Amino acid sequence: MDNSIVIDGIDAGYGSVRVLEGVSLEVRGGETVVLLGTNGNGKSTLMKSIMGMVPPRAGRITARIDGVTHHLTGRTTEEIVDLGVALVPEGRRLFPRLSVEENLLLGAFRPKARAQIRTNLAFCFEAFPRLAERRSQLAGSMSGGEQQMLALGRALMSAPRILLIDEPSVGLAPVLVSRTIDKIRELKERYNLTVLMAEQNFPQALRIADRGYVIVHGRIEFEGKSADELNNNDLIRKFYLGL
Ligand SMILES: Nc1ncnc2c1ncn2[C@@H]1O[C@H](COP(=O)(O)OP(=O)(O)OP(=O)(O)O)[C@@H](O)[C@H]1O
Ligand SMILES: [Mg+2]
Repeated sequence: MDNSIVIDGIDAGYGSVRVLEGVSLEVRGGETVVLLGTNGNGKSTLMKSIMGMVPPRAGRITARIDGVTHHLTGRTTEEIVDLGVALVPEGRRLFPRLSVEENLLLGAFRPKARAQIRTNLAFCFEAFPRLAERRSQLAGSMSGGEQQMLALGRALMSAPRILLIDEPSVGLAPVLVSRTIDKIRELKERYNLTVLMAEQNFPQALRIADRGYVIVHGRIEFEGKSADELNNNDLIRKFYLGL
């Protein structure tokens, strides 16, 4: 089933600070789209706008989920999660003093997800065998890579159709970044997800991207219709890929 999201001309910010200006982008069913940008250009703000955490001041966000179109603008975060959109936040945002299993269970507050909590937990443990082994360990004592897996697992507990992932590479050693990116590709395929991933690690993000956008100072500066188009763009090669 087609699960897609369309962002149409949104403005968003904090108080008098305007961060996003006229941002439009689209993630079609089953795609992995990357939102590329360096520090402070508005990637997290866009993710939060989709989730209703930083409500847009103008523009419109709509999602098509299991064949039904919903306006996300104006809805609460809980409602948006309940429709089937989940965010893996930047910096993981786990509960360090709760166990792995408790952190996962907290991801299942969506009513539909609660009904399937045991199945989803079993799915998570199957997708991340390390989490099953460590189910009683305190989240705060897991390594950075394990914590990122836990954050991904927690998002899966809401049985999302559309998964937003905000800078999964942050704070991870290069080998873990590449493993995390591989895992995201695997999850996307296994659960048939539609994925929007924000990253500033251009080469790693482009490994799994179908296409992507570059955001600069809160505006979409470039849209690549394929990963190749992004990889081969002269400005991207010069400024972001260091080639
Ligand atoms: N809560 C806030 N209050 C005021 N300004 C904020 C707030 N959060 C972010 N900003 C500002 O919004 C701009 C965009 O920040 P945002 O976090 O969206 O960028 P980002 O692309 O995710 O950066 P990073 O790669 O560092 O995570 C920055 O100038 C930032 O200082
Ligand atoms: Mg960010």
